[in-house]
Amino acid sequence: MTTITLFGSTGDLSYRKLLPALYNMYSNSQTDFQIIAIGRKDYTTKDYIQTIQTGIQEYTRLAFDEEIFKKFSKRIIYYQMDLTNKNSYVQFNEFIKQQNIQDQIFYLALSPQFFHQVIEGLKMLDHIEKNRVVIEKPFGESTEDMNLINQKLKEIFEDDHLYYIDHYLGKEMVQNIKTIRFKNALFKSNWNQDMIESIQISALEKDGILNRGAYYEKSGALKDMVQNHIFQIVTILTMEEQKNQHEAQLDILHHLHVEKMILGQYKGYKQEKNVSPDSTTETYAELECRIQKKPWENVPIFIRTGKKLNRREIYVVIKFRSFDGSPNNLLEIKIQPTEGVYLQFNIKKPQEKNEIQTVKMDFCQSCLEVNRINTPQAYERLLKEVIRNSHEYFSSFEEILTSSRLIEEIEKPEPFIYENQIENSLTDWIEIPHTLDK
Ligand code: BG6
Repeated sequence: MTTITLFGSTGDLSYRKLLPALYNMYSNSQTDFQIIAIGRKDYTTKDYIQTIQTGIQEYTRLAFDEEIFKKFSKRIIYYQMDLTNKNSYVQFNEFIKQQNIQDQIFYLALSPQFFHQVIEGLKMLDHIEKNRVVIEKPFGESTEDMNLINQKLKEIFEDDHLYYIDHYLGKEMVQNIKTIRFKNALFKSNWNQDMIESIQISALEKDGILNRGAYYEKSGALKDMVQNHIFQIVTILTMEEQKNQHEAQLDILHHLHVEKMILGQYKGYKQEKNVSPDSTTETYAELECRIQKKPWENVPIFIRTGKKLNRREIYVVIKFRSFDGSPNNLLEIKIQPTEGVYLQFNIKKPQEKNEIQTVKMDFCQSCLEVNRINTPQAYERLLKEVIRNSHEYFSSFEEILTSSRLIEEIEKPEPFIYENQIENSLTDWIEIPHTLDK
């Protein structure tokens, strides 16, 4: 049985994403594990279980079942620990020795200010090098810090025991981009600047920053979403088809340039908890990027992401070039909440001689219950991969470093204030009405 030792078990990520994912994995009975939940708070295991129950009820993908939850909670031990105190690792070492652990994964769902101390602490544990470690963004407070943390981790762990997580890589439709691009003759040969006019990527959220003011103040939308999740989508959309996906993605990152950018901040952000009253942190970012490399030089890639907008939706629109002024073909890849594909193309209008009509094919994958039940949430998929010891869906450190440098080097404009929507965008965003969505 695998033991998942979760540092940061009382944090927002554990509450909203990791524990619901583990609960779903348990419900599916596909994987056998126990959890050691580590936190600073003075909880008993019983208190901890009570706290996480609400999160699981709210965020689980599968229906919440009291009986299953009871059994699941028997797999959890809460362990209180001060991460900044060296002695606590000595005690923790004694504690894990008593647990008869065969296979252990350390999951660092922590703010980067703790990474150095926790890594030093992990070094003090017996046979630590045999274990695997999963690390969450932000992977350091700056690119320099990321390098230091990576070096420290590499002093303990071999590369194949290190997992840099980007949960967007675990999303069903992000993975599907490769199939759509490479397994359709229709797109494969037309996926270049001769045929594509522009690419638009939207990642819109309704929620604000919730309880994450301290973290968000340092990151803002650029580091929170663009540098990692959205650049993953950009690079999968534009990389060459080759065996080593990380190399192909890295190659795109090396040629990616940000040409224009606007930033926004939602009204009321400055009044959020742990946010400075004169904060200039952006909660919305819109970018026009170019890949300075064939076959993409002439294709603008528009990106937008933000919080407290009028809807929660992630989707990509590929706008194909128009010939003879006929309407553009559009391909939309719907990532979230609806998963599906939409294609708009031209045919002749019935009866009329030379008139064109635009028609569509709209496929909603997640509208089918069987797909909803069988599609794991991103974190479920990724946690299973770590348990299986597979790196397929994880970022490489080089990718992380390159994209962080890219964002660090951009000069940031002052953010404007917005409420629900953005008035002056860099482009006309293509909005496709989804008739099939639920
Ligand atoms: C996280 C960000 O990585 O991704 C959050 O820190 C954001 O700010 C979240 O809300 C979005 O993930 P998802 O899976 O809900 O689209």
